Amino acid sequence: MSDSPSAATTSSPRRALVTGAAGFIGSHLAHALLQTGTIVIGVDRRDPARDQTAAANMAALHGLPGYMHITADLLTCAIDPLLIDADVIFHLAGIPGVRPSWGPQFSEYVNSNILATQRLMDAATRMHVPRLVVASSSSVYGPTNGGPSVEGDHPRPASPYAVTKLAEEQLCLAHASRTDCPTSVIALRYFTVYGPRQRPDMFTHRALRAAMSGQPLRLYGDGHQRRDFTYIDDAVAATIAAAGAPIDTGIVNVGGGANASLLDVINIANRLAGREIQIHADNARNGDVLTTRADPRRAQAVLGWQPTVDLPTGMRAQMQALTQPAYRKAA
Ligand code: NAD
Ligand code: UGA
Repeated sequence: MSDSPSAATTSSPRRALVTGAAGFIGSHLAHALLQTGTIVIGVDRRDPARDQTAAANMAALHGLPGYMHITADLLTCAIDPLLIDADVIFHLAGIPGVRPSWGPQFSEYVNSNILATQRLMDAATRMHVPRLVVASSSSVYGPTNGGPSVEGDHPRPASPYAVTKLAEEQLCLAHASRTDCPTSVIALRYFTVYGPRQRPDMFTHRALRAAMSGQPLRLYGDGHQRRDFTYIDDAVAATIAAAGAPIDTGIVNVGGGANASLLDVINIANRLAGREIQIHADNARNGDVLTTRADPRRAQAVLGWQPTVDLPTGMRAQMQALTQPAYRKAA
């Protein structure tokens, strides 16, 4: 990472493009940016008029002044017009999820995580956007010895998804390292983000749903897998801080500090719902690592950021959101 002063100007940009704005993290980010007075252009290939999850994610954005939404695929759409006068691009669009990436959908991962990112970086360069913040992933570290992962550790991605995320962040960094590139890049390695509107394929969502409904929960492996669960508002705060971080280019871990196991999540869900989740034991899945854990030092130094929400508090907020009518319909 270069620690030279960057072209980024303020911690609250004037105008931003948020890719993946109909998604979990992107919709929260767009909302938070609007609260700070940023003009936000959101782009996503999911059409909220047809996709209930996208509609639920975006419900809070409707009618907010300063927000404009475009339904388009970054693999094919004209990107330059979206970048006029943009101070920063927050690149959250992508195909997430470790387990499905072994299947035939792999080409989707390549298209959205790699090829669309290449198009976006080309456009950012042409349009002289000073900064791009890209959503990378803790999964790029792969298996660890349980100790904290430092940004300089040798990446050992263990799933096709993780390979595409490593390619995505490195692609952005490669563009940024060209002498004539006007765009500096911060790649944020998010560690398992949870909270209201979390993707329904993810574990915390499923555990809370099982606790609330009495339906069984499928548990892959023995439940001793540990994750550095990161609350959504903390992830968003780190992301906004990255827009104005006074460095040129680099990688930063965004971990919530939870270091909790899946069994811990189940126990919290049981307590919150006042009922025991019924577990359906299943085999561990290929590509799932046993532990993710962020070394937090660079995030503190570079972003001036540290997490503020603990797992029981964040899960309570997530459970409360699951009872809202718009979300109940979608998820
Ligand atoms: P999400 O699926 O809710 O949001 C991603 C959005 O990107 C979706 O709405 C999707 O329609 C959109 N998208 C995908 N390909 C696109 C394309 N070609 N053009 C336009 N839009 C496209 O996922 P999320 O959980 O919000 O994750 C956001 C990003 O953060 C992803 O890049 C993911 O890999 C990364 N990430 C997420 C987590 C997590 O715990 N949620 C952790 C690490 C990294
Ligand atoms: C999550 C996100 O899904 C990825 O998009 C992201 O890149 C990654 O975090 C990251 O930190 O980088 P993951 O840690 O696999 O990936 O999160 P979950 O999908 O919530 O799974 C966590 C654990 O729960 C895994 O071991 C999984 O096998 C297990 N699980 C998941 C179950 O036992 N049952 C389920 O129904 C779902």
